Amino acid sequence: MTVAAPAGALGYSPGMSKKPLSRRAFVTGAGLSGLVAATTSHGFTDGDLKEGSPDGTPEQIHLTWGEDPSGGVCVSWASASQAANPRVELTAGAKPRTFHAVQRTYTDGLNGQTVFTYHASISGLAADTVFTYAVTADNDRNRLRPFTASFRTAPRGRARFRWTSYGDLATPVLSWVLSSPQSTFAVKAVERFQPLFHLLNGDLCYANLNPGAQPAVWADFGNNVQASAANRPWMPCPGNHEIEFGNGSDGMNAYLTRFTLPANGTAFPGRWYQFQVGSALFISLHADDVIFQDSGAFVGGPAPLVPAPSTGNPPIPPGTSLYIHGYSGGAQTRWLEQVLAAAAQNRSIDWIIVQMHQDALSSSKYGNGSDKGIREAWLPLFDRYGVDLVLCGHDHDYERSWPVRGCNHDVGRDVLTGAPVDTLQPRPVITAKPANGEFDTTHGTIHFILGGGGTSAPLDAYGENPVSRVPQAKVITRPNRPIPGAAVGTFTKPAADAVEDAIWSARRDTDTGYGIAVFDLDPGEPGGKTSITISYHHALGADKRATADYELFEQLVLAKERRDR
Ligand SMILES: [Fe+2]
Ligand SMILES: [Fe+2]
Repeated sequence: MTVAAPAGALGYSPGMSKKPLSRRAFVTGAGLSGLVAATTSHGFTDGDLKEGSPDGTPEQIHLTWGEDPSGGVCVSWASASQAANPRVELTAGAKPRTFHAVQRTYTDGLNGQTVFTYHASISGLAADTVFTYAVTADNDRNRLRPFTASFRTAPRGRARFRWTSYGDLATPVLSWVLSSPQSTFAVKAVERFQPLFHLLNGDLCYANLNPGAQPAVWADFGNNVQASAANRPWMPCPGNHEIEFGNGSDGMNAYLTRFTLPANGTAFPGRWYQFQVGSALFISLHADDVIFQDSGAFVGGPAPLVPAPSTGNPPIPPGTSLYIHGYSGGAQTRWLEQVLAAAAQNRSIDWIIVQMHQDALSSSKYGNGSDKGIREAWLPLFDRYGVDLVLCGHDHDYERSWPVRGCNHDVGRDVLTGAPVDTLQPRPVITAKPANGEFDTTHGTIHFILGGGGTSAPLDAYGENPVSRVPQAKVITRPNRPIPGAAVGTFTKPAADAVEDAIWSARRDTDTGYGIAVFDLDPGEPGGKTSITISYHHALGADKRATADYELFEQLVLAKERRDR
């Protein structure tokens, strides 16, 4: 399954109406998904834009990096109906130019709504330069004053830059499950820190917890993040809540249709990717491929989930979960190893930062905890190739590990029987702040849980060994598929099957589950050291009441020799 039609895959056929299709009309036009609506001007007059005509007004506008962040961005958006001649006009920073957009659509498999999205790739720009752009279409109701914003291209070569990160954002629309007004403040927090780009670590909007209205939840998410994502790339990775019933065999149609992300050269475009900014390589992974926990779309019962009749999809029985462990057949892990091996030979790369949603190291008490699947599949690669940072979400809290390398065996304990379990307990290599205040991550990888974007479910309580009082983590070491629940006809999923002492846990924020991490990379001087200063700002009081105030919780510095010495 793929919904990402390549540019030029399909054009207008002679028999096709030149009028843009409404959402309703499009539902009946089977087989149109993926057509390119870019190149023909439709010659609209004001009369074509009267009440009730197809509305191609851009909304949910957001940027992502393409293959070369120093040379351009991709501008993506959605509109209520099919857009006519959707396009981006570069208006300042370079000679005025028009970039036509490719259309990608999908029809939601639960409520039958067709979603129209547009993607204009802009490349060939000067590095480290600000450009202004406008997004419009012939049937844009604002076309006389179209949406306009500015972005900056990445610097080329070793340079200072800032990025920010969190996951688990949700929407500000309170009628949706897990949404919270904090998600508006979280978007504003990104703008406050003015990063070059933002990493959004999965669980974007929780549409799959609102199964009758998935496209509407995505739209509320897209319109909320536009306040920042139209000004700077927001680079996402998929989380478990991006896995939706009815939207492709792995539930990813909504995510894949809405985001244009750097190519990975595999049969699974859009799910994982890499890009380089300055001396840092960013690797974004789809951890649902390797985790043991079963956390995608799920029907708990007792009623089945019944898709709208127009979809033609049958009811989904209670106890059904969309479990996609192993879906790539190892392709993602092979890709990861190739990318890391190439990075090891590339002396322009000083830092390797991995982004993924789920956690290899989390001691959240009520959240998911740590997943052995990631420890098995990817931590040995992070060790071998010296990944510096792993940025996650999933548990809605803040936790930082000590630098870890390798693991201890058979030190976990089965939750039910107390028998020893091999949880592959990560081994910390530094367990105190270094005397010079700088962590050297050539010795070990630091993992961050940054799950405090803006959901309504903060999880800032952490596990503790009841005897020794040291931090304790739940560890999921095998698939926790649905089992019958307490009430007749209902299903539930078993909690984590093991625990271990979280000897790797360095800092946990018990004050609030919300915050944003700010990373400032300093390339240093030739022959010297390079550093990353990490400042975690948390939203005090947000567990009880949403707040715009983010204040510094902790700061740490990573420093190491440059690779071009
Ligand atoms: Fe989440
Ligand atoms: Fe999650």
